[in-house]
Amino acid sequence: MGERDGKDAARLTGVGVGPGDAGLLTLAALEVLESADRVVAPTTELSRPGRAESIVAAAVPGVVFDRLLFDMSPDDEGGAEARAASHRSAAARLVPWLRRGEHVAFVTLGDPNLYSTFPSLVRALGELGWQGRVETVPGITAFQALAAATGTVLLDGTESLSLVTALDGVDEVAEALEHPDRAVVVYKGGRHIGAVAQLLASSGRLDGAVFGERLGLRDERVGPIEAVGDGPASYLVTVVVPPVARDKGAR
Ligand SMILES: C[S@@+](CC[C@H](N)C(=O)[O-])C[C@H]1O[C@@H](n2cnc3c(N)ncnc32)[C@H](O)[C@@H]1O
Repeated sequence: MGERDGKDAARLTGVGVGPGDAGLLTLAALEVLESADRVVAPTTELSRPGRAESIVAAAVPGVVFDRLLFDMSPDDEGGAEARAASHRSAAARLVPWLRRGEHVAFVTLGDPNLYSTFPSLVRALGELGWQGRVETVPGITAFQALAAATGTVLLDGTESLSLVTALDGVDEVAEALEHPDRAVVVYKGGRHIGAVAQLLASSGRLDGAVFGERLGLRDERVGPIEAVGDGPASYLVTVVVPPVARDKGAR
């Protein structure tokens, strides 16, 4: 495409594609993917589709993707700098397209505003001097999909929710469990899944606690947390712990 009438058309949309099942892509996501000038997808190997790309490809055959290499190394392997460098390179590929006035859609797992690489990409674009229009299309999150798959009511009445990570250990999970009226969702806990399960047992919070690994993807596992084993599990594992005492007179 050449220079367009108005660079106002230029924008970057972060499109949430849900956790894995192509059936959880929203109509709003499909509309953007079908109308954007270009669809870009993160991957850790340029020769292979990333997860978000595979989900879209299953739902809308024929979409052409530009793959962007994203480093996913963990911090203890010098990952922070490698990840930041990959965000800069990805942003540098987008800049000419955006400056040409294209509408670029970036697909991301789950929701783009929840622990996604999308904000890092936007920051890197800003560092390169691109300050254009940015939008997001919400996606179904992994914890919503897990609640649905297990028939778990996440919140009722005046209950609240703690969404914590367990990438480096279970301290934040322990803190969240101190509140019996809170549901607790644990993300990024694959390496410590055995410790999460033990913590739930010792805190009296096994009742109704469930895990979902690779939800909607090949080799999916879903079940009560007692069935998770000692781990480790995949990075793509989510735990949902419902509140202890439910307020029956919900309003
Ligand atoms: C980088 S965050 C991405 C979160 C995503 N943006 C969302 O809205 O759910 C990665 C974490 O999300 C959870 N997750 C994402 N997809 C998942 C899936 N298909 N099955 C289980 N957990 C998943 C896991 O806890 C994983 O460690």
